[in-house]
Amino acid sequence: MKKMDLLKSFAAITIAAPLLATTHPYIVTGHDMVQSSNKSLSTFKVLETHKDSVIARVEDSDKAGLSHIAHEENHRCGGYFAFETLKEAQQFVKDFAINGAKVNKTIFADYSLNQSELVERTIAQADELSIRNTILKLSSYHNRYYKSDTGVQSQAWLKSHWESLTNHRNDIKVEYFDHTRYPQKSVVATIKGKSDDIIVVGGHADSIAGWWNQAGSKAPGADDNASGTATVTETLRVLAASGYQPEKTIKFMAYAAEEVGLLGSKDIAQTFKRQNKSVVGVLQLDMTNFNGSNEDISIITDYTSEAQNTFLTKLIDTYLGNLSWGYSSCGYGCSDHASWHSQGYPASIPFEAHKNDMNGHIHTARDTIERSGGDAEHALKFAKLALAYVIELDK
Ligand code: BES
Ligand code: ZN
Repeated sequence: MKKMDLLKSFAAITIAAPLLATTHPYIVTGHDMVQSSNKSLSTFKVLETHKDSVIARVEDSDKAGLSHIAHEENHRCGGYFAFETLKEAQQFVKDFAINGAKVNKTIFADYSLNQSELVERTIAQADELSIRNTILKLSSYHNRYYKSDTGVQSQAWLKSHWESLTNHRNDIKVEYFDHTRYPQKSVVATIKGKSDDIIVVGGHADSIAGWWNQAGSKAPGADDNASGTATVTETLRVLAASGYQPEKTIKFMAYAAEEVGLLGSKDIAQTFKRQNKSVVGVLQLDMTNFNGSNEDISIITDYTSEAQNTFLTKLIDTYLGNLSWGYSSCGYGCSDHASWHSQGYPASIPFEAHKNDMNGHIHTARDTIERSGGDAEHALKFAKLALAYVIELDK
């Protein structure tokens, strides 16, 4: 090779290297993932073994294989949390062990029910068509992947939509929460209350198809999770339109980058913890529109607050009387509630079905509203629950 060519290729390598570097190479996953990963993934290497998890390093080239093992052999979708540094992964394991166990012992929330008149009047305003239209709009993007242009654009649309729903109120603001390492932003709407105590209603706005969004695939994510995002949107719409002025500060969140390791919510929950914010309750809405079980609402028991879960069951029995509910579990931190839980905040996730009966089309091009029955009747139940949750916790 001539000297000039050699120099050129060296320049190409040094320029290309940062782009090729694995993003979030450190992962926290379950013990059940180790054996197969060791066998079939050349870059998978366990670094630390903990009581409930392992920390491993894996390069991008093996991420698809890792998801495949999680999905096919251990019946999870992604099944791991990804981090930029080993230190972050270690902190995460520590937070789960310490804060997870401490949840709700230090935070006082009043779970009594005494706002029946207001709750009943407000939940009557929740509207199926509004939810359906938001699902249709969000799922019309090619995908909402955290690194794609369409994933940036869909969040810009959501922000302007939330602004249009709330611009008659000067006590409500809609903002981006920027994440430094990827282009997709989270969207946060805040109804300022009299106190600094915070109630969070959120869901992830990103979508993914295949393993690691291979080849920029189409990912409508109508159920996972346009449905939850639309349910959050409807909760915000009704509270803003009805003139509701809260005691506590209510925050509505559409998280970026959940599908690649809960990145957006983790960033936000860590920031809130660092800033000592008093979050009295977090409601996660992820997959609300596929009616796959006999029971209407399944409450996920792991990485959630038992006391707040019981509060949800009381809300359903009291205000959504004809609906049935049950308990189910993911077996791992399957959505953004786990990010809040790991920071010690009480979180819950009422889910569309028992885990075994959930929508089997998620993370594929088939996750369309038609596969969830073509309307938003199931999601409407969750919007009513979210409204009851906010009003009864807000005291
Ligand atoms: N909505 C799904 C997962 C889900 C499944 C939530 C069952 C509630 C009950 C979510 O978007 C997802 O795919 N999560 C990943 C894990 C995440 C840490 C990447 C999964 O389940 O593998
Ligand atoms: Zn998903």
